[in-house]
Amino acid sequence: MIRALILGGTADASLLAAAIARAGIDAVYSYGGRTRAPADQPLPTRIGGFGGASGLADTIRREGFTHVIDATHPFAAEMSRNAVEACTQTGTPLIALERAPWEKTQGDNWIGVSDVDAAVAALPESPANVFLAIGRQHIAPFAAKPQHAYTLRFVDPPVAPLPFAADVIVSRGPFTLDGELEMIRARKIAWIVARNSGGDGARAKIDAARTLGLPVIMIARPELPERPRVESVAEIMQWLDHSTRLGA
Ligand SMILES: NC(=O)c1ccc[n+]([C@@H]2O[C@H](COP(=O)([O-])OP(=O)(O)OC[C@H]3O[C@@H](n4cnc5c(N)ncnc54)[C@H](OP(=O)(O)O)[C@@H]3O)[C@@H](O)[C@H]2O)c1
Repeated sequence: MIRALILGGTADASLLAAAIARAGIDAVYSYGGRTRAPADQPLPTRIGGFGGASGLADTIRREGFTHVIDATHPFAAEMSRNAVEACTQTGTPLIALERAPWEKTQGDNWIGVSDVDAAVAALPESPANVFLAIGRQHIAPFAAKPQHAYTLRFVDPPVAPLPFAADVIVSRGPFTLDGELEMIRARKIAWIVARNSGGDGARAKIDAARTLGLPVIMIARPELPERPRVESVAEIMQWLDHSTRLGA
């Protein structure tokens, strides 16, 4: 019998939870606890860290999980590394549900960088209006370039003071091209800093930047250990179905 653990926190993870619930498969959905009011899931839900790879391995053993699906955000590297290690330790099948990164197309003006510090360095020295389309836990290094006027966008209003003065938009998305064009024009944004998340929910700002000819400092995804990876919920369902047939 299958008992699956979904490491969630993304729109794809919610779609997967719905499909798993519809199929009547025993599963638990896990949130990292970053957003204050996470979306309800049609599965039993737990919230918060496991305590590293060993904590996750303990949870897998204690709660009898037979399969782990890593449907976290492509930049949730710590969780994904812990999942590989815990599943290796416990001999539990693991698969990742991860959308493909965005590819640069004609008209894109991307400056590719490997991490947040490199993104700070890639910003100009002269003052500019900058939209930081990255999570709140990654903004602190931009305090090193205080000459810019930053716009930030978060799912929840900030509770702690920000590391620098900024204009904050609170919105959960998904965002439309028209909405992003309006926001960028209204704030006279000249630079966008984004992570290469992939998928449709977050891509409108990239399309808007192309439309307006704006530079995007694009942070590449972190390197992760090798693991089976698919891009669709249907492939995860096939994987689970295949395991059932094999009696795994
Ligand atoms: N939807 C989006 O656009 C979006 C964007 C960014 C992040 N997220 C989501 O937010 C969560 C946290 O991201 P992050 O950047 O903080 O990741 P991270 O740096 O890889 O994770 C840090 C720690 O948070 C805990 N954690 C993360 N995801 C978890 C999960 N699904 N269930 C239980 N514990 C989890 C783990 O703690 P322990 O080591 O104690 O187990 C992990 O080591 C992820 O679930 C991710 O998918 C969503």
